[in-house]
Amino acid sequence: MSESVTLSGFDGFPSGWYAILHISELPKSKPFACIRFGIPLVIWKDSSEVVVMEDRCPHRSAKLSLGKICDNKIRCPFHGFEFSKDGSCTHAPEFNKAIPKLMVKKYPSRVTLDMIWVMFGNPSGVDDISPLENVFNSFNGNYSFFSKKWDSYITRCIENQLDYTHLAEVHKTTIGRNFVMPQNPRFEQTDSSIITYQRDGDSSPSTIYVYPNSWILNISDKMKIIAYFVPVSQNQSIIYIFTFRGFLTAKPIKPIIDFVMNISNKIILKQDQKVVESQASWNYKLEDEVLMKHDKAIKLFRNMWKSRQQKHS
Ligand code: FES
Ligand SMILES: [Fe+2]
Repeated sequence: MSESVTLSGFDGFPSGWYAILHISELPKSKPFACIRFGIPLVIWKDSSEVVVMEDRCPHRSAKLSLGKICDNKIRCPFHGFEFSKDGSCTHAPEFNKAIPKLMVKKYPSRVTLDMIWVMFGNPSGVDDISPLENVFNSFNGNYSFFSKKWDSYITRCIENQLDYTHLAEVHKTTIGRNFVMPQNPRFEQTDSSIITYQRDGDSSPSTIYVYPNSWILNISDKMKIIAYFVPVSQNQSIIYIFTFRGFLTAKPIKPIIDFVMNISNKIILKQDQKVVESQASWNYKLEDEVLMKHDKAIKLFRNMWKSRQQKHS
């Protein structure tokens, strides 16, 4: 019998499909261990799909990620029990038979936009990643990317990207050098996104937050950035920065330009990291912070996040 259970960790993460890992990080024929939402997960590939499970054997709790993949099954390193992609035990060596009722927890997952996604909590009905798909498809899936772990809660990382007023201070030596404070920005909200326009009359947005954990920076038609904010735990997040570029893409120079772009993005991100990590942690009291007029996108984000938070037991 196939069983797919929903992820639940601790209070705080709202339900939704979260991007959690770049597909290239998953080894071809070995299980991969990672922590997401504070939960140890094992991710592995059978011949047809990517499987995300709790990294714990239901027999005596050894880490399945230390085991092997053989014949489309994951084999526990402790007593050799094997589990199929639906989570059920297909072979227990000590009895030389299957124990179908012995199940590893399996989580709903999908692979799209070169990321592995997992459903956290209960399916909430909000799942519109079309703004991300539009960027990805308009550049034919060509991008360069890197990732960085921050000691920060996911909402702090997301809010940082919705906050343009820090550009003049934090990034005064880089992208904020000639920053002019927008005088009449416009903010729009849909069920699954928060869209910022630099000026009220602009027709193309400058940034789009896509619920729950991604964000688009619209630099120009020829250059856009997608960021994913991946929750590791209450105190850690991984930020993935994808740069999509429609110029200087000729074969011999592309890797060099990608390299330079990633270096400059890393410098910018490092400028953010220090301040964002210094902010109060995941259990900060929102009501103790005084949001200003220019923090409108942050306010909208907090409302969206809060309204979707559920108690997980
Ligand atoms: S702990 Fe996994 S087979 Fe015993
Ligand atoms: Fe920044």
